[in-house]
Amino acid sequence: MSKTNINENIVESLIGKTTEKKRSKIPARLDFIQSATGLTLSLFIMFHIIFESSILLGKESMYMLTKFFEGAYIIEGGSPLFIVILALVVTIIFVAHSLLAMRKFPSSYREYSRFRTHAKLMNHTDTNLWFMQVITGVMIFFLGAVHLYTVMTQPENIGPYASSDRIYSDGMWILYLMLLVTVVTHTGVGIYRLIMKWGWFDGENPKKNRIKIQKIITAVTAFYLFIGLLSLVSYMKIGHEHQDNYGERYHLSGSMEVK
Ligand code: HEM
Repeated sequence: MSKTNINENIVESLIGKTTEKKRSKIPARLDFIQSATGLTLSLFIMFHIIFESSILLGKESMYMLTKFFEGAYIIEGGSPLFIVILALVVTIIFVAHSLLAMRKFPSSYREYSRFRTHAKLMNHTDTNLWFMQVITGVMIFFLGAVHLYTVMTQPENIGPYASSDRIYSDGMWILYLMLLVTVVTHTGVGIYRLIMKWGWFDGENPKKNRIKIQKIITAVTAFYLFIGLLSLVSYMKIGHEHQDNYGERYHLSGSMEVK
């Protein structure tokens, strides 16, 4: 980067305008990246919960899916390295999205209390939803970090018995329950706010469409909460039945493969 470019960047970051006195494009770009990373994570989580719910179809289904993500179609028997790479990519997007969101948080008690008073006076749904995103976002930042760290450091410990032992015997169900509720609501509200912000489905009658979108998102969110909770109960049940054999891996019937 040339010296002139560096100087221009310094001026732009300090006064919010370029050296030619034009409005800085940085805030709009950051806003766009925040939306794009949010949308990517939302899609990831929607697929993730569906894949996790494979346990509802039986241990064998979850085992086969795990093997698929371990790249068993490329390398014989698969390798946990594929899981680590996927988790690393997700972590980078997760951290980028969190840092971008943090720049809009109230930065002092005075700013926070001004916001709360304003929100109470207005009682505006979208303002309240933004506050809900802040609370759930902070919780996901900590809970999600623990989960991603576990996945990256123990990628070989994923499977019908390994996951159930972690959830039941290691007591991780508390973390998963909190993560499930916060991440599903954060995703639902996030997608609603994205649709409103970029006016994706405004159509001829934005007001009517807004109500329709609210109803669809509420129904989809409830569906995800339901299958997420059901899967968690299923892992708990398997973990409870398997507690005396903690650490033993799942055997695919008729083969020597274990997980
Ligand atoms: C590539 C990265 C990820 C992998 C490989 C992964 C894998 C898993 C696995 C195997 C489980 C089952 C429990 C266990 O074995 O410990 C699980 C559960 C869960 N994960 Fe992830 N995860 C990833 C990223 C995330 C992220 C970023 C979030 C949200 C911030 C998340 C939220 C959840 C939730 C809420 C559950 C419980 C699901 C339920 O109750 O049905 N995961 N994940």
